Parts: sequence; C-alpha cells; structure tokens
Amino acid sequence: MTSPAENPLDTSSGRMPSGRPAVLLTRRLPDAVEARAARDYAATLNPDDTAFSGAEIAARAAAAGADAVLCCAGDRLDAAAIAALPPRVKVLATFSVGTDHIDLEAARARGLVVTNTPDVLTDATADIALLLLLGAARRASEGERMIRAAAWTGWTPTQLMGTHIGGKRLGIVGMGRIGQAVARRARAFGMDIHYSNRRPLPPELAEGATYHADPEAMLPVCDVLSLHFPATAETRHWLNADRIGRLPPGAILINTARGSVVDDAAVIDALARGRLAAAGLDVFENEPNLHPGYRDLPNTFLLPHLGSATVETRNAMGFRALDNIDAVMAGRTAPDRVV
Ligand code: DGY
Repeated sequence: MTSPAENPLDTSSGRMPSGRPAVLLTRRLPDAVEARAARDYAATLNPDDTAFSGAEIAARAAAAGADAVLCCAGDRLDAAAIAALPPRVKVLATFSVGTDHIDLEAARARGLVVTNTPDVLTDATADIALLLLLGAARRASEGERMIRAAAWTGWTPTQLMGTHIGGKRLGIVGMGRIGQAVARRARAFGMDIHYSNRRPLPPELAEGATYHADPEAMLPVCDVLSLHFPATAETRHWLNADRIGRLPPGAILINTARGSVVDDAAVIDALARGRLAAAGLDVFENEPNLHPGYRDLPNTFLLPHLGSATVETRNAMGFRALDNIDAVMAGRTAPDRVV
C-alpha cells in the first residue's frame, strides 16, 4: 500500500504532497516570482489573475492547505476574511508597502504575522510622482488627447500653456522614504522643497528642505502638494475642501499614496473651478471604480495605480514577500514584519 507521503493524491496532512510548506498566491505575479515560489513551496497560483474576495481567498487558502498567503494591494482582507483563514496560515505577506487592505488589528488578535515590501518600490513610486507632476503641470493629457483626436492644427504661441515647475514650492506631506525620493528628484528640477512630517529629518536627509511641524501651516506655501502618508481611518479624506482652501490659488495636487486620503468631491470641485490648476493622480478611492468626475476634467493627469509597475520593482517586491515567508517558515522574525 502506498503511504500517504508517497501517494501524490493524499492531502490528509493538509500539506501538499511534496511535504513542503504550502503558499497561496492570491494574484498572478511576475514569472520570476512565481518560479521561485514554485521552487521553494507547494505553490497555488492564480494563472487567470482572477480578483477574489476576502472570503474566496480564505476558502482558497483552506483548499490549498496554505501555511502562508502572499496577497496583493487589491485584496480586501477584512476582519471576517482573516477570521475565515484556516488556522494553519501563519503569515500574510502582502506584495505592497501599503497595508490598508488588511485589518491589522484582526491579524494581531489572531496571531497572524503580516509583512509588507518597503524600500524596493521607493524609486519607482517617486518616478511616477514626478511623471504626474510634470504631466499635470505641463498639460500632457490635453496635448496627447489633441493629437490622438487629430485635433492639432499646429504650433501656436499660446497653445496649452502650463505651469513652469522650476522655482516653485513643492510641499510634501509625509517625508518617509518615498517623500524623500520625490524631494531629491524635484530638487533637480529647481523646486524649493517644503515638508511636513511627525519629526524633522536630520540635515543630511533634509538636504535644505524647509520643515513644517503642522501640515496645515505648510499648505499656503505649496504651489505643488504631494501626498505620501498611509491611508488610515484618521487620514481618510485628509485633503478636504477646507485644506484645499488653504493652498495658493492654482496649486497642483499629486497623489501616489492612496485615493482615500483625498475627498474626491472637494478635489473635483476645486479642479472644475480652477482653484486647483491640475491634479496628477495614480491612486483612487474604490479602485478601479474611481469617481467619474475625474475623467471629465481636462486638467487631470490620471494613471491606473502604476507607482511600482516596473519589471525590476515588481520582481523585487515579490522576492521581498517571499523572503518574509521564508523567514516565518524557518521560525525566524520576518524582516518586514508589520504585525
Ligand atoms: C503599494 O505597494 O502599496 C503600492 O501601492 C502597490 O504597488
């Protein structure tokens, strides 16, 4: 008789037949990441890249006998989904730096380790922030639409005049890794950097940027405002009509953090009135069902959450998530443990 260990169909141990720990990947990941996951684990992949609900992820984790779940930014892992995860799941490693899609308190209460992927997406996200800044300031969407619609009748001295960013004041709310990387890039364009953060940076990191302890007090000097703080219950709709009213008239808004930190209705109203000159946005509340008002405005430069979307960065994020799973499976502390 074939022993359970030899029988390839036997899953009574809850483990995949290989005897290796089992990992559930909730979404399709870059080939190199999936290859490493399959090399080191009994990996359940999602080749069709179906977006599953939290309840479905929990059910798939049970079916896979998962010891670890590698999840992604769009997966809603609320308290109910975390409670439904099978007890053998020890770690939830998210393929993102943001953790707002996970109920961290529920994870903590259940003793589930949660990890993220900081550092590796800093440069890619800062690059996208600069793309948004330039695209919004220089009216890139309008120009591109004009050409695609065959509506360009030729160069004119006053066509699509935008805002020169050199010499303008960039206000960064949240001067962590990404905020600092944005500041470095913006400095190269001749911008004057202001920032607000819980604590001032040491001089070697501040590189001459002006610190504002109170973000509200910084708003009046922000010709461009770029948001770099996490989405939490406290920061929901932080940029509201009142705070927009404190910005200089014609300010430009950049958001690569999370959509929920701005009040869409207030931003759209300010863009429509010209109170905000333009907005460059990579993230939206309720992605992918963003507020339709953004699409109708000429002065928005919109990207579909591309902040970390380079091959190099997405590979690095996947490897970092797997490093965290490796650590937990080996009984070590995960390097990027959030909970
Ligand atoms: C993150 O890592 O939080 C990004 O938004 C997803 O790329």
